[in-house]
Amino acid sequence: MASWILDLGMQRVIADSRIAIIPQYSLQFAREHHKPYFGRQLSAFQSPPVRYALLADLARYALRGRSAVRILEIGSWAGASAITFGTVVRELQIPVRRIICIDQWSKYFVDEDSSLHYRSMNAAATTREIQKLFQHNVQVCGLEEMIQVRNANSREVLPELESAAFDLVYIDGSHKKDDVLYDLEQAKRLVRNGAMICGDDLELLKSEIDSDAHQLALGKDTDFVVDPRTGASYHPGVTEAIATVFNDVWQEHGLWCVKRSGELWSIPDFQVSNLEIPTHLQHAVEIPYGLFNGYELFRQGDGFVAYPMASPHWFQNRIVCSSIEELALLLDAIERIDQARAPRIVESRDSFNIVSYKGRYWAISKSLGPTELFRERLGERDLAPLLFSADTLDEVKAKVHQLAPPVSESPCLLETYQGYNLVEYEGIVWIVAIAAGPVDLTNLETKRALLSQGRLMCAATIEGARLAVERRSREGQTS
Ligand SMILES: C[S@@+](CC[C@H](N)C(=O)[O-])C[C@H]1O[C@@H](n2cnc3c(N)ncnc32)[C@H](O)[C@@H]1O
Repeated sequence: MASWILDLGMQRVIADSRIAIIPQYSLQFAREHHKPYFGRQLSAFQSPPVRYALLADLARYALRGRSAVRILEIGSWAGASAITFGTVVRELQIPVRRIICIDQWSKYFVDEDSSLHYRSMNAAATTREIQKLFQHNVQVCGLEEMIQVRNANSREVLPELESAAFDLVYIDGSHKKDDVLYDLEQAKRLVRNGAMICGDDLELLKSEIDSDAHQLALGKDTDFVVDPRTGASYHPGVTEAIATVFNDVWQEHGLWCVKRSGELWSIPDFQVSNLEIPTHLQHAVEIPYGLFNGYELFRQGDGFVAYPMASPHWFQNRIVCSSIEELALLLDAIERIDQARAPRIVESRDSFNIVSYKGRYWAISKSLGPTELFRERLGERDLAPLLFSADTLDEVKAKVHQLAPPVSESPCLLETYQGYNLVEYEGIVWIVAIAAGPVDLTNLETKRALLSQGRLMCAATIEGARLAVERRSREGQTS
């Protein structure tokens, strides 16, 4: 069955993909049916899914071959990382094992961090709902014996713990610089020789970021900001504290680690070998599976989901099936129907060709050059306003008319916005990451390559461009 699926290489796809967090069931269902819950409710799913796949592989690397392990976790929330460790310890069949989880489960974001995400996390903590969910998740995953909870601030618990006694210390608590510095210094004392300290939330290293903006964010104690140099979002307190304590660390997808060698700290020779979303999280995410007939396929829990790649309403057109065979049959049948209606150019208007395809009318900018767009990964969601569609010919013509403003002869910088240059050229606002360096917008091939890699975006208006930048930066902010 796998042969007809274009194999994208699971590891690369998990790592590159914006895997959707769409839980298969609700918190109430999880409680009633004794299942783990890591969906959107209570912000139970804290980090991008790929980090847990990496964390599991890192734990395998750190713990394999040991007959006894002690793990320390600072910051547990609903238990996603603690259960990842527990599952790996069980998988490695380590007979003597203990995971200590320190968490205060109380409001820890200050009022300056006033976004809804922070307010709802504070609410989940103050009502104690999140602590209850942690206990539920640990219990239904059968890890009650292994996991020992210390319900307090790390500053109270860490000094009581025995030195050089832990095989792995994981830091995912407070993001404030002084708190992270404290947790790091204690972790150095607690980890045994040859063992590792690792942690979450290191999206950018200090050497990569804009230092003035960084100092400003540190002064305000901001939890999570956009770095103007790279355009990426990061936790200033975590970046600063790690740079202060360690010269260099291993870092990927926000996860970091160092290994103790006597009094020195080195970068472990860890190579990612098995990137799989841990079982307890699988109900909550759509895991990339492959491509088929112009659809992106995802595995979700026991079922499968397909999204049409070229459809403007790809998200609403989610096709859900209970097995891959059922999905393949369905998509094949859809393909046969669609083939009877191959794309054909209806008319050429201003700078667009208008094409009739799959029962809709598509406007395709001539600036894209000769294209087989419907076979390519690029879809309307990536390319508007170069490619868009409507139900009727009149509607699509009206849109083309709207989009035919006076065309500038050469690219013209309109403004710089959150790490991106917004450049007007040929009636389109191009959104160019400053980090991408100089981009020749007059070169068709360059533009197409960058668009398909997601390194260039475009919009019809400056407002649309700003919104696209904000959306891109939010997509990087799951944590
Ligand atoms: C980002 S969440 C942890 C997410 C968790 N590791 C996971 O993978 O789902 C951070 C947690 O750290 C806890 N926390 C923050 N500051 C702390 C501190 N100083 N001591 C103990 N826990 C703290 C919070 O209560 C919260 O549960």
